[in-house]
Amino acid sequence: MQYTANTLENHWMPFTANRDFKADPRLMVKGEGIYYWDHKGGKIIDGSSGLFCSAAGHCRPEIADAVSAQLRENDFTPPFQSGHPGSFELAAKVSSLMPDGINHVFFTNSGSESIDTALKIAMAYHRARGEGQRTRFVSRERAYHGVNIGGTSLGGMVKNRETFSGLMPSIVHMRHTWLEKNRFAKGQPEHGAELAEDLQRAVETYGGSTIAACFIEPIAGSTGVLVPPKGYLERLREICDTHGILLVFDEVICGFGRTGKAFAAQSFGVTPDIITMAKALTNGALPMGAVAVDDEIYDTVVNAAPENAIELFHGYTFSGHPTACAAGLAALEIYEKENLFERAAELSPYFLDQVYSLQDLNAVTDIRGYGLIAGFDVATGDAPGQRGTQLQKDLFWSGLHVKFTGDTGIIAPPFVAEKEHIDQIVGILREKLAEL
Ligand SMILES: Cc1ncc(COP(=O)(O)O)c(C=O)c1O
Repeated sequence: MQYTANTLENHWMPFTANRDFKADPRLMVKGEGIYYWDHKGGKIIDGSSGLFCSAAGHCRPEIADAVSAQLRENDFTPPFQSGHPGSFELAAKVSSLMPDGINHVFFTNSGSESIDTALKIAMAYHRARGEGQRTRFVSRERAYHGVNIGGTSLGGMVKNRETFSGLMPSIVHMRHTWLEKNRFAKGQPEHGAELAEDLQRAVETYGGSTIAACFIEPIAGSTGVLVPPKGYLERLREICDTHGILLVFDEVICGFGRTGKAFAAQSFGVTPDIITMAKALTNGALPMGAVAVDDEIYDTVVNAAPENAIELFHGYTFSGHPTACAAGLAALEIYEKENLFERAAELSPYFLDQVYSLQDLNAVTDIRGYGLIAGFDVATGDAPGQRGTQLQKDLFWSGLHVKFTGDTGIIAPPFVAEKEHIDQIVGILREKLAEL
């Protein structure tokens, strides 16, 4: 099938160079397992699980069947003051994967909505405790927390912020954790735990009692996989505990096995108060996100409201949509039946070894990785991002899909990948990177 720019013009594509794309479209028209097919019939191996979504591979019939059955049985239920069984079942399943004590799940439709929901839950919690003065939030440079006003405000990637004024006030950014001396470190780097003291500095500058929550991606994903230095998350937890600050882990990428355990909280042994998720919750098959909170937060907010009154004035028309719940339940069943989180953990050493073998290439200036996710930086060309954008296109036409942010590629294969698929991904990368 051939597409011309004219037929593509009406869709204003997100995070895309629209003019460039429409002049030379790269459409994916079919997916199966760890492969896509482009509109010219080319087969493309999926090196980034789509966009970190399709952990169990593409077009799983179990999910398609569950969604189709749901659409025939009950296509929509208003989520306010009514419900359907699937959302309760999925909330119970998600809770069972959470660290102890995190047992309450609020459904959204995306990672961005999960972040804004978590911000509002944090505000509601402090207000319910009579601490409504906690209006400040702490996040980090190079963070990505989605694109809604809350997430954009928390975010720390300049291109995502600079166009937009009038974001949320009272956000403090800690430094990011990329350090020259950690270059090519595999897993958690040795250096940088002291960067958590930036939270302590915020406490000393603004007063701990004014800070509502600290938002952190356990592994900063979109910016290029910044793995937390040893001791860093532990220290953030300590500071939060001392000052009554909620710790929020944004696990939109890490959640559902990417780090080798269900959630990064478990991989790193640090339990936050709130966990945000999306992406692999439905294996990417339908849009859905969620915010999981601990008992203390849920009980406090709920019990502060008058009996029989709505406790949290927040929610989306499509919160816990029946089809998304059906997709989520089917996806979680696949993860469990096929032990996919364990499989991700088992495949991790081989995956990391192969990706780190690229460090001998001149163009590769750093590699970071943990579990089944790794980022590699390519030496900047004429302008930041130019080389990465071109490389992503060249890789696509060479049969490999990899997500790029600027000059950084992020590899995160589906957990159903075999070693030979990892070899294929790294082989194509080596060939193209060697040409730079
Ligand atoms: C850590 C993190 N938070 C939030 C988001 C936003 O999710 P969405 O694009 O579903 O709104 C993303 C998306 O990549 C993410 O990586």
